[in-house]
Amino acid sequence: MSPVLTTLRALSPESLDACLTAAIAAVSVHNTQPWLFRAHGPEIDVMADERRRLRVIDPDGRQLAMSVGAAAFNLRVAMRARGRLPVQRILPDSAHPETLVTVFPGPFSPPGAGIRELTAAIGRRHTSRSPLRTSAIPWRVQQDLLAAAAAEGARLTACAPVSRDGLLALTRAAAETLHHNPAYRDEIAAWAGGPAARTDGVPVTAFAPRDAAARLPLRDFRSGRPELYRPVTARFERFPALMVLSTPGDTRYDWIRAGQALQRVLLTATVHGLAVTPMNQALDVPALRHLVGGDGAGPHAQAVLRLGYGSPGPATPRRRVDEVLVGRTP
Ligand SMILES: Cc1cc2nc3c(=O)[nH]c(=O)nc-3n(C[C@H](O)[C@H](O)[C@H](O)COP(=O)(O)O)c2cc1C
Repeated sequence: MSPVLTTLRALSPESLDACLTAAIAAVSVHNTQPWLFRAHGPEIDVMADERRRLRVIDPDGRQLAMSVGAAAFNLRVAMRARGRLPVQRILPDSAHPETLVTVFPGPFSPPGAGIRELTAAIGRRHTSRSPLRTSAIPWRVQQDLLAAAAAEGARLTACAPVSRDGLLALTRAAAETLHHNPAYRDEIAAWAGGPAARTDGVPVTAFAPRDAAARLPLRDFRSGRPELYRPVTARFERFPALMVLSTPGDTRYDWIRAGQALQRVLLTATVHGLAVTPMNQALDVPALRHLVGGDGAGPHAQAVLRLGYGSPGPATPRRRVDEVLVGRTP
């Protein structure tokens, strides 16, 4: 670290708390919240909590790294909103592979309007799994979303109609394959539903209804224990807008960056009043993942997003900051 940076002040305890509250509002696969934080001096380590990795759909930790990357992105935004330029190091220490990102509050600099908008979106952003009013996204808004992904080293590509239909068919096939895998059903049952007081996992209030026309394969969080839930169906949009987030490589570094890009895209979408649903089943099936792409998407697809205007989706629970902050040394 440069001598100039080391002379800078750490965040106050209140600011640290606010930054971590922002971090844990991030997206995470099945709301596993697979992160831990350690504050030492001015630095904050954002660490992977391997105990929360999904063994069936995430054997190599790709989605875990994306979730941690998303939390690190929110942390950076919150730090920037408090007038400090965040400096991050990704995979800073090979002796500590659990530390995926270290974020340091750099020089003082007042936040601009863009950061203030992203900050305000952190608490408003939720995954929406409802039918949408319209999938027509203005060109200017699409360009903002593409720029958000590019700013974090990823690529976001809008699907043309032919590749959209292909991707929907692939996702339906993946959903079917997953549904017939008992280990997948057990895993989803462990993370979806459950008591209302639970502070992680996907609550029943966030489950998607089934598409009455059986075209749009949103992830079915009931599939672990269908007998527990009343089947709900709804009429979804006929021509969903899909986008693919991809990265140039497929290493742990790329996954962390993909998570940062995903969170930046989602916050930018929230600023524009868009609702977004990740629908990644095709990426959970290794034999199908490499088929996701096309339309100039990068070689490694990391997320499939459905976007449009409609209900923003319900808030989902989070663990408290003191449950995920494992160390604080001055
Ligand atoms: C890597 C990753 C993959 C995800 N895949 C899906 C998915 O396939 N289907 C879905 O409905 N949500 C998916 N999500 C969204 C999470 O379920 C959601 O972020 C989590 O339940 C917390 O809810 P929130 O986004 O409303 O805060 C994914 C999130 C991440 C980070």
